[in-house]
Amino acid sequence: MRWILLLAGCLESYSEPAASPVTPDLGQPSSPASPSSPPSTPPDPSLPPGTPTFYKDALGVFQRNCLGCHATGGATAPVLDQADSAAAASKQVLAAVQSGIMPPFPPADGCNQYVGERRISAADSQTLMMWVNAGAPAGNPADAPPPIPAQSASPGTPDKHVTTGPFTPTYPGSAGANDLYWCFVVDPALTAARDLVKLNVVPGQKEEVHHVIVFRDPGGKGSAGKPAGGYECNGVPGEMLTGWVPGSGPMELPSGVGMTLAAGDKLLMQIHYHKVATAAPDSTSLDLYYSATPTPQHAYVVWTGTPLFSIPANAKGYQVKSTCTVNGSWKVLGLAPHMHQHGTAFTSYQGAQCLMNIPHWDFGWQGGYFLQQPMDLTSGAKITTTCTYDNPSGAAIKFGEATTDEMCFGFLYVVAAQKPTFTGLVNLVGGQDTASMCAN
Ligand code: HEC
Repeated sequence: MRWILLLAGCLESYSEPAASPVTPDLGQPSSPASPSSPPSTPPDPSLPPGTPTFYKDALGVFQRNCLGCHATGGATAPVLDQADSAAAASKQVLAAVQSGIMPPFPPADGCNQYVGERRISAADSQTLMMWVNAGAPAGNPADAPPPIPAQSASPGTPDKHVTTGPFTPTYPGSAGANDLYWCFVVDPALTAARDLVKLNVVPGQKEEVHHVIVFRDPGGKGSAGKPAGGYECNGVPGEMLTGWVPGSGPMELPSGVGMTLAAGDKLLMQIHYHKVATAAPDSTSLDLYYSATPTPQHAYVVWTGTPLFSIPANAKGYQVKSTCTVNGSWKVLGLAPHMHQHGTAFTSYQGAQCLMNIPHWDFGWQGGYFLQQPMDLTSGAKITTTCTYDNPSGAAIKFGEATTDEMCFGFLYVVAAQKPTFTGLVNLVGGQDTASMCAN
């Protein structure tokens, strides 16, 4: 899964700078144009006037929507800042954009607004369509828009920098033939509590690192006695703090808000490796930033959803629905939905207010999302989580940690005066009272 806040947090912004200039260096015209000369860009005689071209039209669209992940030197094919590779991929590009797969941003429009939304405008999408339908011509490099400046200011010097590995994954893992979930234990070595305000995950082998989730392991209990080089760990091995998916930048909490790490806590970096043709040793890094003084507000990760379900054999569109009742005054900063590979849709509502609507669940694009406007909740507010699944197999799928099992959680990032609790959870499917499961 790729996270965001996200965990997503993770999908917060396109902060990966393009690794190389987006356009050729056009800064040195070889001869000054005289005032009377025609425009410096001679039209390509083979192209009818007005034909959309890569340099004049498509490149700007790619800059605005795609190059955070598809620039030269980035990890992800196709490379879209070069006329030839963009043209070669043009049919795929159009299909990916028209189907809504790219740019990847699973939350549907019209539910809520998130930090760092990736949505292509109708105008940009139309421009791409016209360019592709015209045969994806390159046109004249002089028409290229100026390169976009690298967007990420340096995130500053971390209080703690750790690097995993080097680790060469071996497959199959228990999650499947091409997948391995590996947990690295990180010791922040705290002798007193500190408030985390920012985390930055930087993957090493970008093609093989599918996503990274950082968990807090309170008191180091979950990872006690585990091998120094890491171990296989599916599911949710601790309290989620943040995640990284392709295209995501650092996760930074709003000013004045921190997530407390206690003395003795460990962190787990759960890396989902996905098999590539030639595996190379991976070293993924994690930077931790603490507030110099305790933050006035604290964020907690609260689990909504339910483990009490089983998806019947051959079910299609099977819904697991649960409601948690808030106890206290909360400010919801964001949400990271979590299902496994049989999920097809996810929603989270507070009454009629939509927190999250993912109509086409993609296991590969999980993330956390910060709300542009945090949502204030008071005691009695009900958060209803609905997970929808298909089970094409002839056996029931149970709740569980293996990727072949299923989960249905919405991890809420909540600011509250103390560790938030629910008054109960009503499982609408089974009708059981699962209050203990809803408390975080
Ligand atoms: C946040 C990173 C990100 C952004 C932004 C992004 N892509 Fe992608 N793209 C990916 C990744 C990662 C893949 C590999 C497939 C996957 O893992 O889903 C991909 C795959 C593709 C593919 C191959 C799809 C296929 O059929 O296999 C195309 C084409 C593509 N992207 C086009 C685009 C276009 C066009 C844009 C902008 C409108 C865009 N992408 C924006 C990350 C991104």
